[in-house]
Amino acid sequence: MNTFRKGAAHVEVWRDLRELSTRAAELFVGLARASVQTHDAFTVALSGGSTPQALYELLATKPMAERIPWPQTHVFWSDERCVPPDHRQSNYRLAYEALLARVPVPVEQIHRMHGEDEPQAAAAAYSSVLEKHLSVTGERLYLSLLGMGDDGHTASLFPHSPVLDDTKHLVAAPYVEKLKAYRLTLTLRALNRAAHTIFLVSGEAKATALRAVLESEDDPHAWPARLVQPDEGGELIWLVDEEAARLLSF
Ligand code: 6PG
Repeated sequence: MNTFRKGAAHVEVWRDLRELSTRAAELFVGLARASVQTHDAFTVALSGGSTPQALYELLATKPMAERIPWPQTHVFWSDERCVPPDHRQSNYRLAYEALLARVPVPVEQIHRMHGEDEPQAAAAAYSSVLEKHLSVTGERLYLSLLGMGDDGHTASLFPHSPVLDDTKHLVAAPYVEKLKAYRLTLTLRALNRAAHTIFLVSGEAKATALRAVLESEDDPHAWPARLVQPDEGGELIWLVDEEAARLLSF
């Protein structure tokens, strides 16, 4: 495994998705236990997309599942599609089927975004959920898991979206022209408050965006994942595989 720093980011290059998912699972376990040690609670925002599925499945199986303090865990999402929870595109459904249905996290501590509701109302409601439940870990997420699209988007923060400059809200409901759809997403204000942020990036298709995010001087609004710069001493880790790291200079 190669490891190096890019600004505030600690970058680890693993051979493939399986290796980086195992590493992510080990970090998840360690952070969950550390959070409970300090706060008697663990708050984590899950990412959508396909990359984290292997991680979620690892967390749901022995030995990882038994080492995570599920009864003290609160689960959130970094973003959601504007679809019902049983829709095949639902980020909640992906995480529920791969992980949450298989571990003893209290159902009242699974805080899904209501993609089935009117987007602006759902965003406002989720802001209230965050404000209510993040108090257990110091008004911030203890862990934020994120992915990155091949256009450099993260969560549902897409290139040149006005929501990139929203410093007022914790959750927004941007219309994504590229997708011709609304999305629910944590804003950078919420994401950059996380105590620990872990990106999972796999595959050759992400190589150009990863170089732009980690190494270029381009306008960060063109590569939104670059705008994830945790404040208040937040830790930023990029777990990437060799294919995604192909264009990096390290
Ligand atoms: C979503 C995700 C999104 C995702 C990236 C990468 O709702 O789609 O939150 O930000 O992390 O698009 O997706 P893949 O892991 O499928 O490449």
